[in-house]
Amino acid sequence: MRRLSVVNLILEPSTRTRCAFEIAEERLGVEHVSLRWGEALSLAKGETLLDTVRTLAAMGVNVVVIRHPEVGVPSQIAATVAEVHVVNAGDGTGEHPTQGLIDLLSLRRRWGSLDGRRVLIVGDIAHSRVARSNYHGLVALGAEVVLCGPQAFLPPAGDWPQAALTTDLDEALADCDAVMALRIQHERLAASEVVPDLDAYRQLYGLTSERMARVRPDVPVLHPGPLNRDVEIDGAVADGERSLVWEQVRGGVAVRMAVLQAMAEAPLGAPAPATAAGR
Ligand code: CP
Repeated sequence: MRRLSVVNLILEPSTRTRCAFEIAEERLGVEHVSLRWGEALSLAKGETLLDTVRTLAAMGVNVVVIRHPEVGVPSQIAATVAEVHVVNAGDGTGEHPTQGLIDLLSLRRRWGSLDGRRVLIVGDIAHSRVARSNYHGLVALGAEVVLCGPQAFLPPAGDWPQAALTTDLDEALADCDAVMALRIQHERLAASEVVPDLDAYRQLYGLTSERMARVRPDVPVLHPGPLNRDVEIDGAVADGERSLVWEQVRGGVAVRMAVLQAMAEAPLGAPAPATAAGR
């Protein structure tokens, strides 16, 4: 098994993911360094991100955990710098695979199998990397996926071919086995997409106490965090009996430990040459 040396490159705000990776690295006894945007990195002096990663690799770093605001950056690094394993800790509106694994783990712990279960995801689906990673995982494990939100927050029909789309939350809640709320990704909205009235949004698309009182009591509620209490989910629902929110957070460290362990056992390829595409 390879001795791991990890750098967490956290180039967009994060609490859960960054801390869970750092705690996982501590618990595994793995050498690790965390770099955050705004910490006077040499990126600010014109160094490319790929050269930053090549620099880390030359020091013996063999795992880069990266959160980045742009879709596809982790894949680009993985395709270019062969000396490191790359773990996507969230790339823009792209993917958030380890969060998806946490959410699947929470549901597996509750149900055993996800086969045939109907999971409703409600909120700002269009800008959510968490929704996309959940979609792939849920479909792979045999669950049905229903996506709900205002039309502007739903993906184009056909983009997520195995999901059902709806704008009617109450109807969808009447017929689901679990529901996951997502926050509005304000930082990713175009001016034309800004929600002018959050209270009106809550009335239509929030998991309010009143709404959830009408839902089967065995339907668990998930939320990947960060919570916007009393917008997409009422505080009383997030803290209530059906909530898996804090179990999701607890699972975050174990999932990251498992992912890092897999990195220690996975082969690394030969170094890739620095090409124009790889600068
Ligand atoms: N769920 C999640 O990714 O949270 P953070 O942005 O706090 O890491």
